[in-house]
Amino acid sequence: MLDQIIAHIKAKRELQHLDDSFVEELVQKQLQSNKKLREKINVSESFEKLKKSKVYDQLVKDIRAKLREIYGVFILDDFEKLFEEYKQRKVKIRHLLEAHQSTKERFMYYPRAYPRIFNITGNPKIIMDLACGMNPLSYSFLGCHPEYIAVDIAQKDIDIIAEFFKLYKVKATTIAADLTHFNEWIDLLPKADVCFLFKTLDTLEAQQRHISKKLIPRLFEKVKWVVVSFSKKSIGGKKNLRASARSWFEKWIEKERYNSESFEVFNELFYVIRT
Ligand SMILES: C[S@@+](CC[C@H](N)C(=O)[O-])C[C@H]1O[C@@H](n2cnc3c(N)ncnc32)[C@H](O)[C@@H]1O
Repeated sequence: MLDQIIAHIKAKRELQHLDDSFVEELVQKQLQSNKKLREKINVSESFEKLKKSKVYDQLVKDIRAKLREIYGVFILDDFEKLFEEYKQRKVKIRHLLEAHQSTKERFMYYPRAYPRIFNITGNPKIIMDLACGMNPLSYSFLGCHPEYIAVDIAQKDIDIIAEFFKLYKVKATTIAADLTHFNEWIDLLPKADVCFLFKTLDTLEAQQRHISKKLIPRLFEKVKWVVVSFSKKSIGGKKNLRASARSWFEKWIEKERYNSESFEVFNELFYVIRT
């Protein structure tokens, strides 16, 4: 029945790129903490019967809401099709970047954001982009030609990014991996000059509290600079996210005595930090 639950949860266009194992982990967590739900699943003779129950309905709503928060949202139905059209030069890179919420919000501002980052760090020879989403597709806005290491949990997205880099003959390492288990694979990554963690820490903290405080020190064993960004608006841009939601991060970098410079571009707040 678990397979059916996962398939049902994913039956929304914006969630289709997610790996089953990732959805399963959230379902399992919910099952552990919700006795009523466990009992309902045990007594339901079929998935169809389970689907009619209130407790199941709530599970689907909760997990989908969490996935949208964690994953961000694809705006288009069929990203693979769009990518094929891009390869045939029927659509432009803008259309690809505008198909994902984070890169859509940033699209107009890449020409301002990247020079500000690299004014501080210098032009990188190697960039590591963690929980990258579709951000690696902004490569032409970088203003330099670094090697690229792209990591995200969604295998299908990573496949597209790998193809994109192959198309442009950019030396790249593309990996589908879960950052909440970074200890298992971080040593295998090549070293880099700059690591992007764009609009990612809130997402990771929602999955595992205080993970950023373990991840960032480990990253400094691999990279010189870490660039963290936070959105000042919620997904969809309706809500202003309170400054207090980010103040933990500011306090923490101060406590760790990291050197940090911050700036804002449109609704995104960037911190460029080093040890
Ligand atoms: C809000 S989007 C930001 C994407 C990109 N960094 C940007 O700003 O354009 C969050 C990204 O984090 C990825 N993500 C969420 N949880 C993750 C995890 N545990 N491990 C790796 N990637 C994860 C999602 O797949 C999604 O691409």
